[in-house]
Amino acid sequence: MTFPQAVRPLTAKANIIANTRLLLNRDNDMGNNHGITKELAKVFAEVGGVSADEDINDWCNADLGSGVAISPILAAKCLKETLRTQVFIKGLYACLSEMVKVKKSINIVYAGTGPYGCLLLPLLTLFPQAPIRVWLIDIHQENIDSIEKIVRELEVEDQIAVIEKCDATKWHPSENVKFDLILSETMTALLGKEPQVAIFAHVQQFLSNDGVLVPQCIVLSAKLMPFESSKKQVQSLGDFFCLNKKTAGEIADGDFSCLQGHITLPNPLSSFDYQTISFFTDIHVFGSHQLSQHQCSLNTPVSYSGLKLEPGGLVHFHYLFNALPKFEFTFPIETMVEHIPSTEELGTIELPGVKRFWHKTRLVGEGRHDRITTEKELSLEMDMLSHFGKRYQDALYYICHFKPEFHEFERWLLSENE
Ligand SMILES: C[S@@+](CC[C@H](N)C(=O)[O-])C[C@H]1O[C@@H](n2cnc3c(N)ncnc32)[C@H](O)[C@@H]1O
Repeated sequence: MTFPQAVRPLTAKANIIANTRLLLNRDNDMGNNHGITKELAKVFAEVGGVSADEDINDWCNADLGSGVAISPILAAKCLKETLRTQVFIKGLYACLSEMVKVKKSINIVYAGTGPYGCLLLPLLTLFPQAPIRVWLIDIHQENIDSIEKIVRELEVEDQIAVIEKCDATKWHPSENVKFDLILSETMTALLGKEPQVAIFAHVQQFLSNDGVLVPQCIVLSAKLMPFESSKKQVQSLGDFFCLNKKTAGEIADGDFSCLQGHITLPNPLSSFDYQTISFFTDIHVFGSHQLSQHQCSLNTPVSYSGLKLEPGGLVHFHYLFNALPKFEFTFPIETMVEHIPSTEELGTIELPGVKRFWHKTRLVGEGRHDRITTEKELSLEMDMLSHFGKRYQDALYYICHFKPEFHEFERWLLSENE
């Protein structure tokens, strides 16, 4: 099977347009389309002067009070995240296609263009007659310099109202204008680090009543992940935050209630089988154009493992709105009581030392008890485990890794060795 390659027409403009058309027309596929985004990155770099292949250490991120504006070279690399670029371009194309049918004028803000403005600028050439005006904003002067060259190369000057170096979280248009579309892709997974929330919260005030944010919404959700060996199903805990026009407006009004709250864990819940909570980021760019789990780095799940979760407990979340924004979580964790039973205390298995060994080792697993034990007790424990045909190191691993309840440990002791 041969995969279609990128096309290489003679001029940079023709090259950018042809390869953007390929991304629009081809199925979403990272492997098959990577050659196209690679070619686009090459030609954009030739025109604009910022290359995705330079050393990232030579360029600096800008630390804003509201998050990190990644460096021009890192922003250039974003183009090569093929599915991200393809889905955003398709979503924007669908959005513009709808707007040109019904609107007399279309005002657009692109907040955080990066050095190439790759999500939008090539699309402008596909709507040459449309009454589109675009405000292009970025915080880095190198991006602004590059964008000016790319606008000239694509010959879309007539559609550009402003190219401005400024912080989009503080920006105000110099004229009294309302916008039909505000585009920003300034995020990482779980809306961490970069200022997407702060940018949307600020710029939504400039939208017209029927104006849209792109992405239209960014949905965060949580799932309980079972141990693979348990053969149990993933359990959804539902969505816990959505960044959209409505919530961006609430945040701008000082109402942060959507940014904090809790997720209730199921009850009953096997805290033995489910010790990992994963958080997911789904990006609804426009209409049916979406990015979800593992499609690009923005959708990488964030997981917290080794949690001995309390059934029916509450996972609290809140968004830290500072120079390094992120969601923080606190988990309802079951902890072992400190008091260690005596050797004589028995469980269902009526053998001395079983309960004491399990309790002590659980505390070791929580970092609350020292692994050191007396020679006498150690040999008693070894004898007890070999009675069940279990090795000492396997028992330690089982208890510290899986954090079993006592009855689960007893069942493990009585189980056949694999
Ligand atoms: C992840 S890059 C995306 C670049 C490009 N839009 C793309 O999708 O390939 C984000 C861009 O937003 C810019 N940026 C981040 N925060 C900003 C802010 N507060 N004001 C203006 N630009 C910002 C960064 O400089 C960077 O160029």
